[in-house]
Amino acid sequence: MANIRPLVASLDIGTSRVRAIVGERNEKSQIEIIGVGDVPSMGMKNGIVVNIEACVRSIGQAIEAAEMMSGREVKTVWAGIGGSHIEGINSRGVVAITGRNGESRGEINETDMARVIEAAQAVVIPMDKQRLEVIPQTYIVDNQRDIREPIDMLGTRLEAEVHIITCSITSAQNLIKCVNRAGFPVNDLVLQILAAGRAVLTSEEKETGVALIDMGGGTTEMMVYTQGAPYSTYTVPLGGFDVTNDITYGLKIAFDTAEDLKKKAGCCWDELIEDGASVDVPGMGGRPPMSVSVAHLYQIILPRMEEILGMARDKLVKLSQSITRPLGGGIVLTGGGAQMPGIVELASEVFGMPVRVGSPLAIGGLESEYRRPEFAAAVGLVIEGNEREIGTASKQSPEGKKIEDGRPGFWSRLGNWIKGEMF
Ligand SMILES: Nc1ncnc2c1ncn2[C@@H]1O[C@H](COP(=O)(O)OP(=O)(O)OP(=O)(O)O)[C@@H](O)[C@H]1O
Ligand SMILES: [Mg+2]
Repeated sequence: MANIRPLVASLDIGTSRVRAIVGERNEKSQIEIIGVGDVPSMGMKNGIVVNIEACVRSIGQAIEAAEMMSGREVKTVWAGIGGSHIEGINSRGVVAITGRNGESRGEINETDMARVIEAAQAVVIPMDKQRLEVIPQTYIVDNQRDIREPIDMLGTRLEAEVHIITCSITSAQNLIKCVNRAGFPVNDLVLQILAAGRAVLTSEEKETGVALIDMGGGTTEMMVYTQGAPYSTYTVPLGGFDVTNDITYGLKIAFDTAEDLKKKAGCCWDELIEDGASVDVPGMGGRPPMSVSVAHLYQIILPRMEEILGMARDKLVKLSQSITRPLGGGIVLTGGGAQMPGIVELASEVFGMPVRVGSPLAIGGLESEYRRPEFAAAVGLVIEGNEREIGTASKQSPEGKKIEDGRPGFWSRLGNWIKGEMF
């Protein structure tokens, strides 16, 4: 019998869509995507479950679609988490290094690394929040700054700078509960924007400094990288849903009609609009169809797009007081909203920086299915899941590093506990 390749599956439960990806680990331990599911999301709002039954159904449908395409059966999933409840803070910890015989200077070892990361986590986290990720940024050995790999270095004092990401415990529990109810244990929850970064950003961009902006349906999430590691996590509580809502009110048409119209003729850069261009849209409640000028649609869309990008820019301006170097890698846009014509031009104007749309980099398998900006998080989740499963995550890049503080098992234990409650 031929060897069956191990399976890695991911689930990106968004406000607009639920996406599942099934990947096979090849002989080189790399992922090849063999199944993709992409279905409308029901029961989610701004990254929070608002209707368990509806959410469970969407999850089931997405995984089933990916299973059908791949011909394989999903056993467990790596699930993404995002939304307005996510917060990021920077912290630092310091420990003394002692030699084997108690000298005041010694070689830094794995235990020292674990101790300094533990020390850096000594920040007060609100009762309703839980650490989701603890990502080392840089280390300082004695007075030497910007060290990435301090292991084996000699020193008396080791300091670590880390980015801590927290999420709402209730939101995480409800998400796990939905995935479990759909029939799948959760290996772990991973921050969606962090996963998206894995899929679309190059190491050079992260090194030079870059802001990744995921333009989702409910929220717009931003992760700023400097010197190869995440420096700031920020959520704008607005997304494509709000743009569609503006069209709904502006033109007095149904939400679904407005959504179709936005995707068909929406634009946020006037130079791309043809003179006199218009589209026909069905009227609401049996009213006759009407003709909408593309220029009028643009005027409805533009203020909201400017507001969303402007809020992200304001955050970057605040950050520029603490980030010493400018973001040489500019802005990378992902998510469904990054597909709007004119978005690169508008964002370049708002940020005054180079902008590109980030589709997942090729990783093998069904490229035409997943190389779209809205698949960034789902693809990143499967890459991250694969690396965590084979235990190389910590060797890849700073954001892949998992801190052994007992936390990695927390979400799976929580999931099992919820499962135990249910079954
Ligand atoms: N071609 C397009 N032009 C403009 N907007 C688009 C286009 N395609 C999709 N969108 C918008 O992108 C949004 C959905 O993006 P995405 O699928 O990344 O969101 P999500 O992951 O479900 O939501 P969230 O991340 O906020 O939970 C919707 O608001 C949709 O209208
Ligand atoms: Mg999303």
